[in-house]
This record gives sequence, structure tokens and C-alpha cells, in this order.
Amino acid sequence: MNKKKELVMSGIRPTGFLHLGNYFGAVRNYVRMQEEYECYFMVADLHSLTTHPDTKELKTNVHRVLSENIACGLDPDKVALYCQSHIYETSELYLYLNMLAYQGELEKTTTFKDKVRQQPDNVNAGLLTYPVLQTADIILHRAKYVPVGKDQEQHLEMARNFVKRFNYRYGEVFPEPIAFNFGEELIKVPSLDGAGKMSKSENQYATLYLSDDDDLIRKKVMKAKTDSGPAEKNSQKPDYIENIFLLMKLVSTSDTINKFEDDFNNCTIRYGDMKKQLAEDMVQFIAPIRQKADAIRNDEKYLKEVMEKGAEKARKSARATMELVREAIGLNYY
Ligand code: TRP
Repeated sequence: MNKKKELVMSGIRPTGFLHLGNYFGAVRNYVRMQEEYECYFMVADLHSLTTHPDTKELKTNVHRVLSENIACGLDPDKVALYCQSHIYETSELYLYLNMLAYQGELEKTTTFKDKVRQQPDNVNAGLLTYPVLQTADIILHRAKYVPVGKDQEQHLEMARNFVKRFNYRYGEVFPEPIAFNFGEELIKVPSLDGAGKMSKSENQYATLYLSDDDDLIRKKVMKAKTDSGPAEKNSQKPDYIENIFLLMKLVSTSDTINKFEDDFNNCTIRYGDMKKQLAEDMVQFIAPIRQKADAIRNDEKYLKEVMEKGAEKARKSARATMELVREAIGLNYY
């Protein structure tokens, strides 16, 4: 028998298209974990109801997020890839945890305060208890590691608090979940306009989506900010030029990178040529993922199988946990 693998769980929001920042910052990390850990990756469709009550697009979005993640290398035979709404045990655990979560701490949460500002007409209780639902997602599998970005650290800290309270009150059932990423620091993918990183909320033209077609990729890359080139040999690169090199390091060969490094240092660099090269290397990188994602998205039968298989694995683990939870709480009358 294999040594029992440690448990990893994370949730993926079904809003927005995957971009290069998500790929290098999150998805690639999941793909690397799937060999060494027992992984549960969930599409957070219930969470999306707190901000997107209109569900017309939900099915399309869920299908797309599944297709894109599989196209990036997540293997539904290795991980449990499932939808949150398919696992009813989540709602039950969420209910119990709500009794352990205090209004004051929930109201102080940064993401809650942001949402109150963004949607003042829809400050629903689901929004307030968002971190409670997220905790239920994680501890439903008694997961220890949660691969997430910086923006989720506060939610994880709250999850640890809820777990401590549960364990203290009802006995040790759950490990305290911690944020965790594979290997080195997560790579930040700079945006094409030289300002900040690629993100879906910023300038659309500065972000490369895995669904962008070849011409759009070329157009976006060619628009990246440059200047007339360095005036002195071996000078320091301005941020927006450094960013182009950083992007090249993600997708181009080391020969290509070295050539442009040398050209920069000798002041012979032609940024037009560099961007053309980067654009072609981006196309080479993104096109196969896009094509694979398109093919999966159009295969509803396959997607259904993926969701069923994922839900089955997730339910198995959820049921085992919920037995322990009901017993620990004292909901055992016969
Ligand atoms: N809140 C997370 C986000 O906005 C998504 C999420 C839902 C999640 N449930 C989770 C992340 C459980 C990690 C673990 O990205």
C-alpha cells in the first residue's frame, strides 16, 4: 500500500476567463500537486451566487472553467474535480459552522467590506458568511493544504479559527488548514501595459486570456509599452521592459531570451522584433490550450462524466467527515 497522501483542497471561482496570470499563479501549481497529494479541486458555483444572483450564464461558466482547467493539465482521473453545488454535505457543514462564526469577525473581513462597497444594494447574508462556506469546502475533506493566492489568506485564517473553535467545543475532528504552494514562490505574471500584474479586472488589453485567438494575442503583445531602447550599454531596464523579458521567460527558449538580453546590453535591441518573437511564442503556448479547452467544452457528455466522477469522489470523503461531525456535535440520538 502507498503511504497515505496528504490532502489538498482548493476552490476555483466560475466567473471570468482564465488568463496567463491564473495559469502560472494557480493552475500550474494544481497540476504539479496532483501527483503527490490527494487533491480536491472544486468549482465554487455556490459562492458565485453571493455576487452573481443571475444564473443565466452559470452553466456556460462552469463548463468553461472545467474545460480550461482540464486543458491546462488537471486530470479528472487523478484529482477530484467537482462542483460545489453537487455536494449537499457542504450545506450541512456550513450550517453547523455558522453557529461558530461571530457577526463581528465576519463584518470585519476585507472581502466583505469590499463587496459592501461594490454592491450596496445586495449585501446578503451569504456575502457575510462567505468565509464560513469556504471553510466548509475545505474541512469537508479534512484538508490540510490549501493552494491559494495572497487575497485568500484572511479567509484561511478565519478557517483556522472556526476549526479551533469546533475542535475545542466538540473534540478534535479537523486539522487546521494552511495556505500552501508547490515549490518556490508563485510566479507573478506582469501585465502588458507595464503596470501591475495580469488580472481580469484591470485593462483587458494588457491581459492575455487562454481563450484569446492567435491574432488577438499578437495584437495585445505588439501593443505592449516599450521605448526607443537603452542609450548606454548594460543599463538598467525600465519596469515595462523588464516585464517583457519576464513574459518571455515564461514561454520562450533560453536562446531567444539570451539573444535579446545581449541585444539590450549592446544597445542593439529592436523592441518591435522582440515583441514579434514574444507574440509567436505566446501563440505557440496558448493555442494548444485554447484548442483543447474548446474541444472539451463542446463535449457535454465528457463534461458530465467528469462532474459525476468528481462528485462521487468528493461525496465519499464528505460523507465520512459528516459522520464524525454529527457524532462529535452530539446529533446522535439512537
Ligand atoms: N474564495 C475563493 C476565491 O475567491 C474560492 C474558494 C471557494 C476557495 N471555496 C474555496 C478557495 C476553498 C480555497 C478553498 O478565489
